[in-house]
Amino acid sequence: MLPTLFELSRSGKRAVKFPKAAMHSSAKIPAKLLRRQNPSLPELTELDVVRHFTLASQMNYSVDTQFYPLGSCTMKYNPKANFHWALHPAFAGAHPLWPSWAVQGTLESLAGLEEGLAAITGMDAVTLAPAAGAHAELVGILVAGAFYQDKGQAAKRRKIIIPDSAHGTNPASAALGGFEVVTIKSTARGRIDVLQLKKVLDDTTAMVMITVPNTLGLFEDDVLEVSRLAHNAGAQMYMDGANMNALMGIVKPASLGFDMMHINLHKTFSVPHGGGGPGAGVLLVRRHLEEYLPVPRLIRRPANQNGELSILDAHPKSIGRIRAFHGSTGNLLWAASYLALLGRDGVFQASRDAIVNANYLRRLLQDAGLTPYSDEPCMHEAVFTIDPKKLNGVRTLDIAKRLLDFGFYAPTVYFPLIVPEAMMVEPTETESPETLEQFANAVKTILSEAASDPQKVKDAPHALPVRRLDDVLAARNPVVTYQVS
Ligand SMILES: Cc1ncc(COP(=O)(O)O)c(C=O)c1O
Repeated sequence: MLPTLFELSRSGKRAVKFPKAAMHSSAKIPAKLLRRQNPSLPELTELDVVRHFTLASQMNYSVDTQFYPLGSCTMKYNPKANFHWALHPAFAGAHPLWPSWAVQGTLESLAGLEEGLAAITGMDAVTLAPAAGAHAELVGILVAGAFYQDKGQAAKRRKIIIPDSAHGTNPASAALGGFEVVTIKSTARGRIDVLQLKKVLDDTTAMVMITVPNTLGLFEDDVLEVSRLAHNAGAQMYMDGANMNALMGIVKPASLGFDMMHINLHKTFSVPHGGGGPGAGVLLVRRHLEEYLPVPRLIRRPANQNGELSILDAHPKSIGRIRAFHGSTGNLLWAASYLALLGRDGVFQASRDAIVNANYLRRLLQDAGLTPYSDEPCMHEAVFTIDPKKLNGVRTLDIAKRLLDFGFYAPTVYFPLIVPEAMMVEPTETESPETLEQFANAVKTILSEAASDPQKVKDAPHALPVRRLDDVLAARNPVVTYQVS
């Protein structure tokens, strides 16, 4: 294990020597606020610090070094050019309180992102402000609530219908928005059950909320009929578009009948995520919902008033502010750069390659004896299921842990919830066929170990500094401090 900076500390070592202050700070600071003791900070040379953090970074597992076979998370390689542009001093040095005339370049980039996302989805208006996918869902639900309020239907339309193949954040957001959640079971083909939908859809329905492709990695092939039925009942259609990595340049959600949707920039549009870092959700709506969007919004002045972008800070029908300024501007600029680099053909190719890769892996693991959930081709991610009875009691979790010994990050397991012993992989467009073959070979080896030496798989990992953890104990009784011995 790497020693901490505190363990490496030796009294008197310094990386930086500060000049003596001209005036003693205590002259201005009230006595009761002054420290009685010096803070306990590690004392190190610059080289100690550089080596410590460089070694720590080498212990990291990252998409820049290895394959991240997580499903549902779109852990794809984030091109460095985007990072470079987002960090340009003209962007990074701007202050959010500067007047709009002083930040036209930043606002133009954000407007370009809005226009690009609207073109990809067919939607009419955009807010870039939500902090993440789930936040955008909540904002969408509040927007729908404001729309019904305006139409005098808020008291009646209290129900949001969500299939059980939707992402878990969908029912959570609907409940948080104050609506009643009605769940409908999927068909044996993993698709929305239209007969079930018809039974629960009525004039108390505010919204039908669908994840497309759904969490099984499957396209909802009855979506046009679902939209028709929902609209006939006077309900709004919401698309969880966090899986847009499968659809860019292929189909526009607006043409499927959706009234609003969100996109996770930190999945599809190459903004890095993971480890709880900042994300960026984007909510897109059709024209009839635009006036309810949160503020601030970007507004372009007419050409005869110089065509500049300005900021709309209030609108009588808006749901108001949901976040400071325009959202995670650094992330938004990163996505704007990604979109500009890819262009129309590039986004189509990204989605097409993501689908080809997922289906290639699906076939490789099908041949390796890992039964896919569905015999049908998938979209951008493939779901597998195993039968522990046929594998000497080896479970999906054991396979995931053993994969760590082979140098792979663990895939998503036990999700989607409706598939027993689920394992889900989203290779994304950025992985090569060779990487997918190496991954499939590792799974194949583990399956043969399950036949010959199941305990080896059940006890994995063997090659990591830390062996199998008690996840439940760690979650229930977290120890978040480190004691120097
Ligand atoms: C389909 C889907 N919907 C919603 C979300 C929620 O997004 P976030 O984690 O940014 O809140 C995710 C997250 O991965 C997702 O995959």
